[in-house]
Amino acid sequence: MKKIKTGDNSETIFSEEYGEHFHSVTGAYEESVKKYIEPCKISDGMKILDIGFGLGYNIAAAITAAKNLKIISLEKDKKVLDYVQEISADDSLKESYETVKKAARDLFCKDKSRNEIRIILGDARETIKQIDEKFDAVFLDPFSPKKNPELWTAEFFSEIHKRMRKGAILATYSCAGLVRRNLKQAGFEIRDGPCVGRRSPSTVAIA
Ligand SMILES: C[S@@+](CC[C@H](N)C(=O)[O-])C[C@H]1O[C@@H](n2cnc3c(N)ncnc32)[C@H](O)[C@@H]1O
Repeated sequence: MKKIKTGDNSETIFSEEYGEHFHSVTGAYEESVKKYIEPCKISDGMKILDIGFGLGYNIAAAITAAKNLKIISLEKDKKVLDYVQEISADDSLKESYETVKKAARDLFCKDKSRNEIRIILGDARETIKQIDEKFDAVFLDPFSPKKNPELWTAEFFSEIHKRMRKGAILATYSCAGLVRRNLKQAGFEIRDGPCVGRRSPSTVAIA
């Protein structure tokens, strides 16, 4: 995996398997804040389902914004979790990213702000079925629909929908027609999310 610095100085990596970067090269950490934390209105005490732990930036941004969060993250690739230890975070993010590194190493971590992170390793289509609780927010962040189609289907979206409380928010960077149609089919109401690093909007889906 090849590490590069993005436009806001945070690092990302290129996946040879998927032929894509893990984040927007205009600003990896900025993408987490603008496309996930802000649209999901993350605040103290929320329960969050994070799909695609990756380098854990969405989680780092969430625990920077709020405390007493309960986060469950689904990730299939142990090599990616191991690679998190190679990432250098900016000073402003150091503390949250240390928590993310601990979670990536031990698959569980609780920090001093009572944020709890649990990672379930395996294919999200299967591991989601082990989860028997309702979330206030969902970060849907796989690779693109073309490269990672299994996590953008109506079937998978309805497994997510069942695990969200009514009115909870799912945020994702994609605004592809197929993604929005599948979200609607699974019972979500669709809104445009912010445009960050490109002209098209992201998507906010309400359960
Ligand atoms: C774009 S990256 C996620 C970036 C991440 N959210 C962050 O904040 O750094 C996509 C992640 O989804 C994971 N992934 C892809 N397919 C998956 C699947 N079927 N089940 C679980 N994780 C999957 C990949 O291994 C990769 O780590």
